[in-house]
Amino acid sequence: MSFSHGGVVLVCVAFTVMSSVLQEVNTEHSNGVVFQNFAGMELQVPCTVPQSVVSTASGCTMRCKAFPSCRAGSYNKATARCCLSSLLAYEQGATYLENEDSTYFQPVTVLYLDTCLQTDTVRYDNWTLVFRVLAGSGQETYATWTRTGLHHDHWLGSKDMKVGCVSMNSSKPCNTLFRSRLLDDWDKLKVKKVRVSLIKNSQQVNIVFNGSGSGYLDWFSQYRVLESPWQDLFPNNSYLFFSVAGHSPILRRFFIQANYGGCQNDRGWLVVVDGTMYSCSWERLPAPAILYSGSQGATVWQSSNSSKPV
Ligand SMILES: *[C@@H]1O[C@H](CO)[C@@H](O)[C@H](O)[C@H]1NC(C)=O
Ligand SMILES: *[C@@H]1O[C@H](CO)[C@@H](O)[C@H](O)[C@H]1NC(C)=O
Ligand SMILES: *[C@@H]1O[C@H](CO)[C@@H](O)[C@H](O)[C@H]1NC(C)=O
Ligand SMILES: *[C@@H]1O[C@H](CO)[C@@H](O)[C@H](O)[C@H]1NC(C)=O
Ligand SMILES: *[C@@H]1O[C@H](CO)[C@@H](O)[C@H](O)[C@H]1NC(C)=O
Repeated sequence: MSFSHGGVVLVCVAFTVMSSVLQEVNTEHSNGVVFQNFAGMELQVPCTVPQSVVSTASGCTMRCKAFPSCRAGSYNKATARCCLSSLLAYEQGATYLENEDSTYFQPVTVLYLDTCLQTDTVRYDNWTLVFRVLAGSGQETYATWTRTGLHHDHWLGSKDMKVGCVSMNSSKPCNTLFRSRLLDDWDKLKVKKVRVSLIKNSQQVNIVFNGSGSGYLDWFSQYRVLESPWQDLFPNNSYLFFSVAGHSPILRRFFIQANYGGCQNDRGWLVVVDGTMYSCSWERLPAPAILYSGSQGATVWQSSNSSKPV
């Protein structure tokens, strides 16, 4: 995104949480490592771990176990090629393509959430991905956020979800939004921080909230902001909206708004326009549209109508 025109920026958004009880186990390679397979996908990263020709898919995963630097791989049954990599499919620098002869695999990360065993959570550094919006997809953000019981965690096993949907790289192919079961476990997670990442191309802007003692709907508040790209997001500023639900009747969600004053004067920091009510021309974009201020503080939404969906 560019801050130079000081206007509205349109992006992809990913929600991650940092929590104190989500302990990672089983990251060491051992005989207990469990691999999950994803048929029809071939890793195209340079095979950074010495590659080989092996006769079976399990020979390829065994070879991965033998190399500490191996974190993912793919086995092509037509060529018997075993490609091993130190990068997972959704990590930066990793590329892949669809290939019916090939099966991609990576170890399942096993996490303990109190006593419940959790698998397949997607982590970046110490953050766990819990939700990802796909701009312009027509899939409602708020309705999905609040849809208890809807989980996409077994993403690798699902041919319906492209791996780009759990990537922090918005250029990777993705066909659906992502909702983790961790949203339903929020109270058990002992969430420490919640990060909203606004991603466009390779650029990322973060808003970090204090998640301590929060619920999955009330963490998004002016009283919890720890970091943001803006210099005026203080608790004592005046907000017309600062909530996940936002302005419900017109579907402005994850809404941080300073004031209304007629469409041309509407001013705020962040909004997910979650439908096609289109009360104002500034939100007339394929839904859901994610807009945020590209200046140092709140911006007049109408002021930059040059922004286009990514
Ligand atoms: C993001 O993904 C695209 C498409 O796969 C790739 O060309 C680009 O290099 C990736 N960016 C980063 C920073 O890894
Ligand atoms: C993740 O957390 C561990 C333990 O608190 C810390 O040592 C490490 O530096 C953190 N990593 C990142 C990338 O923040
Ligand atoms: C987060 O909020 C809790 C509870 O109000 C407080 O004890 C803690 O110091 C806050 N953390 C940060 C990093 O501000
Ligand atoms: C609001 O809070 C900020 C940061 O704590 C402070 O710098 C500013 O002076 C406060 N403004 C008012 C009007 O109290
Ligand atoms: C673009 O914004 C300007 C004000 O910044 C406004 O005068 C103009 O009508 C807008 N154009 C469209 C197509 O909305």
